[in-house]
Amino acid sequence: MKILLTGGSSFLGKKTLSLISDSFNVIGTFNSKRSEKLIHLDLSDIAQISKIFNEILPDVVLHLASITDLSICENNQEMAKIVNSIATLELARMCDLNNARMIYISSDYVFSGNDGPYDEHAKPGPLSYYGQSKLGGEEILSILNNSVVCRIPILYGFNDQDDKETFVSQVLRKTDNKEKFRVDNHRIKYPVLIDDVAIFIKTLVESTETGIFHLSSKLPLTRYDWALKIAETFDIPATLIKKDDELEKDAFPPRPVDVDLLNTRHDFVFRSVDEGLRIIKEQMGNKSHLN
Ligand SMILES: NC(=O)c1ccc[n+]([C@@H]2O[C@H](COP(=O)([O-])OP(=O)(O)OC[C@H]3O[C@@H](n4cnc5c(N)ncnc54)[C@H](OP(=O)(O)O)[C@@H]3O)[C@@H](O)[C@H]2O)c1
Repeated sequence: MKILLTGGSSFLGKKTLSLISDSFNVIGTFNSKRSEKLIHLDLSDIAQISKIFNEILPDVVLHLASITDLSICENNQEMAKIVNSIATLELARMCDLNNARMIYISSDYVFSGNDGPYDEHAKPGPLSYYGQSKLGGEEILSILNNSVVCRIPILYGFNDQDDKETFVSQVLRKTDNKEKFRVDNHRIKYPVLIDDVAIFIKTLVESTETGIFHLSSKLPLTRYDWALKIAETFDIPATLIKKDDELEKDAFPPRPVDVDLLNTRHDFVFRSVDEGLRIIKEQMGNKSHLN
């Protein structure tokens, strides 16, 4: 089976590539983070999509590439629409023409967080342009029968030293610098480990399931709760971490307060944050990623 994986240079893409490359013939793409192992694809150039697709003729497209920065999406809405929505629909159109399957990674930010919990049929209502543009991509479901939309919450994990900064690496960096810092204690998160999402994606590749899937851990926690767990796992003084109930209340663009995704279509158990953090620590070689 031949797979085209967009966003092979992404945080989730690197983990997914390393998990599935032994089982499938996978061609991953990058845009700005050049890698010898990946081919170049700029989704803002829509004509490139059919060209690359026709060169590879994949059986499955795993579509992970996206502009993921909320502020960039809010301030460059036209670009976010092209890359996150229009390019996604173009990939679905090419899959439809060539009898290929498509798995698209969407986001919990398609919901407002004000009226959860949300099952797969719940009505979306994004608060930010990022959420709006990811929701635009979900329209693949009306273009391509053989397609899957995975809505995922905040990710954490570890591939290598070049990973983009995540909440976990941010806490480790600040505590490494003995910096005291404030952490939000208002919004509720349901973090998932990239290793688990990659396993879930692999099962989807091998299945014939279609439609929307929600991927989410069960234990609700604030970033403050999460930071304390990071401190405990990595033996960091928790006194550096200060609780703040107001920190992100006026953030722009606004972030949902509580997107509780109900997984009604599968019984995959996502590992707890405690377990996930222990795994990351092991992957980092039992030391902070900055050492
Ligand atoms: N991270 C999270 O917490 C989270 C939460 C919910 C959903 N998601 C979704 O999960 C997926 C992966 O997220 P991530 O955080 O792992 O991503 P990421 O590390 O921010 O990387 C984004 C990826 O998209 C590629 N990309 C950006 N602009 C592009 C363009 N114009 N043309 C082609 N490729 C482009 C980047 O390529 P280069 O780096 O080479 O430029 C990179 O591979 C995304 O679809 C995201 O919306 C992520």
